[in-house]
Amino acid sequence: MENGRTGSVKTVGLAPNLSSGFYGQDIISVRQFSRDNLSYIFGVADEMRAIVKRVGSSDLLKGHVLACVFYEPSTRTSSSFIAAMSRLGGSVIPINEVRYSSVTKGESLPDTIRTLESYADVIVLRHPDVGASEVAAEYARKPIINAGDGVGEHPTQALLDLYTIRAELGQIDGLHVAMVGDLRYGRTVHSLARLLCLYDVKMTFISPEILRLPLDVMNEVKDQGKQVRETYDVHEVIADVDVLYVTRVQRERFADQAQYEAVKDYYVITPELMDGAKQKMSIMHPLPRVSEISYALDDDPRAAYFRQMENGMYIRMALLAAVLGKA
Ligand code: NCD
Repeated sequence: MENGRTGSVKTVGLAPNLSSGFYGQDIISVRQFSRDNLSYIFGVADEMRAIVKRVGSSDLLKGHVLACVFYEPSTRTSSSFIAAMSRLGGSVIPINEVRYSSVTKGESLPDTIRTLESYADVIVLRHPDVGASEVAAEYARKPIINAGDGVGEHPTQALLDLYTIRAELGQIDGLHVAMVGDLRYGRTVHSLARLLCLYDVKMTFISPEILRLPLDVMNEVKDQGKQVRETYDVHEVIADVDVLYVTRVQRERFADQAQYEAVKDYYVITPELMDGAKQKMSIMHPLPRVSEISYALDDDPRAAYFRQMENGMYIRMALLAAVLGKA
């Protein structure tokens, strides 16, 4: 689609890979990334961490504006993007849950996006529909960053998840990563499983029958020749895992609340369970947590989820700088 993109640096075509760099590009899916792209972003994120620790902020993105548009609830993703932009000297138009915007008057997504891109240089979008970011990117001349499209993907979360694995365990290749909980509706799992295919990892998917990983994601992983296993029993694999990636059962995605009630407490990760795990491994969670990780584990050195959430800000600083051509 043409959409008046003439003169823009944005590549025409949906979610192209990032082989020619990040400048002006949309971040829609983890499928766009190569290992080189990731090590570049992780390197920039390391620099961002150093800046924040040393002086708190920089003026790298001074004068730039981010529109942060959330059609679904968010604490970490929205506030870490806002903090990221602020710490780089830019400013933010925050639109939360679109309750106070013209969306409640019936404005369409393309019109909202066209409006915001006339004020901002980059748009971060969370939306309940799979593919919404791709649609927005079709209309927008400015970069769109997908902050979660329904049960589809959550690419920036997968980036910060991988960055955390690397920071916690020093490597990604050679690891056994187990994902547990709501693998069906959990978009962070869909993105992370795909992204891990770039590495030499073993993956185990642990869920009750009704929350199994969607077939299309499973097939993509298998097509990459990955060693995968599915089970409903976390005890079966706990002794062997290097990363236990725990997820919340996504209540808001269930049509039948009785079905949610039946599976909501299927897994609770407790200190007793963790007694059977390796000493050097990481417990991760994209958060928010409901009841799936016992609070008694928060002081366990293997509990990486709060460090993981902090890492989100450095990754988002790196991404914003990269798509705005300042990294
Ligand atoms: C996740 C999400 O929104 O998909 N949260 C997040 O962005 N850190 C996970 C969840 O809501 O369970």
